[in-house]
Amino acid sequence: MTNIFAVVLAAGQGTRMKSKLYKVLHPVCGKSMVEHVIDNINTLNTNRIVTVVGHGADMVKETLGNKSEYVLQAEQLGTAHAIQQAEQLLGGLEGTTLVVCGDTPLIRPETMKALFEHHQNTNAKATILTAIADDPTGYGRILRDTDGQVSQIVEQKDATEEQRLVKEINTGTYCFDNKSLFETLKLVKNDNVQGEYYLPDVIQILQKQGEIISAYVTSNFEETLGVNDRFALSQAEEIMRARINEQHMRNGVTIINPASTHISSEAIIGSDTIIKPGTIIEGKTVIGEDCVIGPNSHIVNTTIGDRTTIHSSVIIDSTVGNDTAVGPFAHLRPESSLGDKVKIGNFVEVKKSSLGNNSKVSHLSYIGDAEVGQNVNIGCGTITVNYDGKNKFKTIIEDEVFVGCNSNLVAPVTLKEGSYVAAGSTITKEVPSDALAIARARQENKLNYVSKLNLK
Ligand code: UD1
Ligand code: CA
Repeated sequence: MTNIFAVVLAAGQGTRMKSKLYKVLHPVCGKSMVEHVIDNINTLNTNRIVTVVGHGADMVKETLGNKSEYVLQAEQLGTAHAIQQAEQLLGGLEGTTLVVCGDTPLIRPETMKALFEHHQNTNAKATILTAIADDPTGYGRILRDTDGQVSQIVEQKDATEEQRLVKEINTGTYCFDNKSLFETLKLVKNDNVQGEYYLPDVIQILQKQGEIISAYVTSNFEETLGVNDRFALSQAEEIMRARINEQHMRNGVTIINPASTHISSEAIIGSDTIIKPGTIIEGKTVIGEDCVIGPNSHIVNTTIGDRTTIHSSVIIDSTVGNDTAVGPFAHLRPESSLGDKVKIGNFVEVKKSSLGNNSKVSHLSYIGDAEVGQNVNIGCGTITVNYDGKNKFKTIIEDEVFVGCNSNLVAPVTLKEGSYVAAGSTITKEVPSDALAIARARQENKLNYVSKLNLK
């Protein structure tokens, strides 16, 4: 078996992004570009993956963790110079090296595999993944000699008018014989418009040495999009979004309007779940089967059970059980957890609170820092008064409690099992089990008073 190595180029600043964030860290469907590239490579049988880092090295390393080894390119002198930094790890080894740019997040593992197989089958020293672009502006152009063999890659900035008419582009993905790659890199010069050491120059050098150079033309230009600016970033997002949505639909998820449905590349959704328009599902969200999500819901890093509905609501870093209904217009803030058959209705905010099975908060309430048991009913307009301006306090509401409308539960406070709070109460001390707490001014009726005041 041939050794397979991969080198990912991720040291550039990405000037054209006009961003404080380093280019390869810009997310596409919630995952950074370079992570897409590495995760795709990881599905192949590579022996080693080396990422060349430079600008934002620490952040790139933190993002990728132990998915890759790293070499530092302290100064960005070009893509050939970048690969040279990997010599300390890979130089002299027998094998094939796949090179991928960290800013081409859409290249699928199948395409990388096809490139690799083409490389093996043609016995080439170097194989370039190329594509035919309607508008090749910005890409390196593939020049072929009279018998159709690749002879050179010329960068946009160095190309003549005539060369710029060539529509076959260099996708920035290649396979090389590892030893020849590192030997040839030493011969690359920087006598070009940008004064950089270009990796594509390796091709011309090898060709002149009489080595076999091969090209694998992918039929899908879209997949090879290089993200250099924010416009291309939005194109990549759109393509990736369509891909993710298609996969969910093929797995049995109904997406009513894919164009307005954004699902992160890490989300998992069960079959027969329906996603209604205007829904954004981010991070490592897991949604069960037979749910109805949306319209207009925003769900981040949340786990949702089966047969649950989330209508026009925001849920962040939380868990929601089975057969539960949230919304419309509810907000579950981080660390909230809802059991099974729970109901969270209109204009309810839940923060860092748990609600047991069958409990209901149907309208206009704030539940913060609370532990709510099972079969609890919290009436309209109830507020857990959890904050004194300095510290946060807990409210504990045990099983089978009924809280009447418009009550303030001043924390720290406990409502014991089966207790009952009368509407309009401000509760400041524990309510014992089975007790009725009334904490409001008594009503007094002043008879015949209105006419006496002569108000009418
Ligand atoms: C590069 C290719 C071009 C190809 C295009 C495909 C070169 C000279 N040109 O152009 O032929 O059509 O990709 O998308 O290779 N990087 C480093 N260190 C450096 C310079 C760049 O690590 O010193 C990294 C960047 O972070 C980036 C990748 O290499 O991830 C490509 O660099 P970029 O500047 O985007 O090259 P392009 O101009 O797009
Ligand atoms: Ca690029």
